[in-house]
Amino acid sequence: MLLQASVDGQSLTEEEIVGFCILLLVAGNETTTNLITNAIYTFLEYPEVYRQIKNEPDELLPAAIEEVLRFRSPVQASFRIVHEDVELGGKKLRAGEYVIAWMGAANRDEKQFQDAEQFVVPRKPNPHMAFGRGIHFCLGAPLARMEAEIALREWIRRYPDFKLSASFTLKPLESTFAYGIKELLLTV
Ligand code: HEM
Repeated sequence: MLLQASVDGQSLTEEEIVGFCILLLVAGNETTTNLITNAIYTFLEYPEVYRQIKNEPDELLPAAIEEVLRFRSPVQASFRIVHEDVELGGKKLRAGEYVIAWMGAANRDEKQFQDAEQFVVPRKPNPHMAFGRGIHFCLGAPLARMEAEIALREWIRRYPDFKLSASFTLKPLESTFAYGIKELLLTV
């Protein structure tokens, strides 16, 4: 429907429509995959928190997903180009310069989040920036949240007592911006 609307509106060129399709595919695929994997890995790391989530998924799973988004943000950073000279946090930024906004760092900011280095469920409030901020706020946030909830709910229902496989070694993704692990070998 989203693509149909873009085509029907005729406001986009063919090149823009193809570009938008690629954006949707890339932005919507690996990010959500990493969210689900990061959640399962974090549950293993915090067995006591996981025990509570497992016992009360209706109450705790949505909050757990929000906390994974904060604690292990699948998208760690984003680029911006400075439009006009500005001073930010005591630093002078000049028009035309590139800046990187580290949402992953903001999400661990102790001034915003008490015990920021801990996985806390439920965390109230949880004003994380995992989906960005402002006009470019993630278009797919509701879909990503829904996909993660469906996948994790079903995973917990089928395999409540999973553990890391003996052959597992932690291999982080080789990326500056995407945060996740290459493979998560589990025993169920
Ligand atoms: C856990 C999953 C996801 C995360 C963490 C995530 C994260 C983000 C972030 C941080 C931005 C803002 C980038 C910026 O401001 O420069 C963004 C934008 C965007 N995301 Fe997502 N995303 C996720 C899933 C999805 C899905 C499922 C879709 C679509 C199917 C999607 C489509 C988009 C699009 C189209 C934009 C650009 C919006 C704009 O520029 O106006 N994302 N996403």
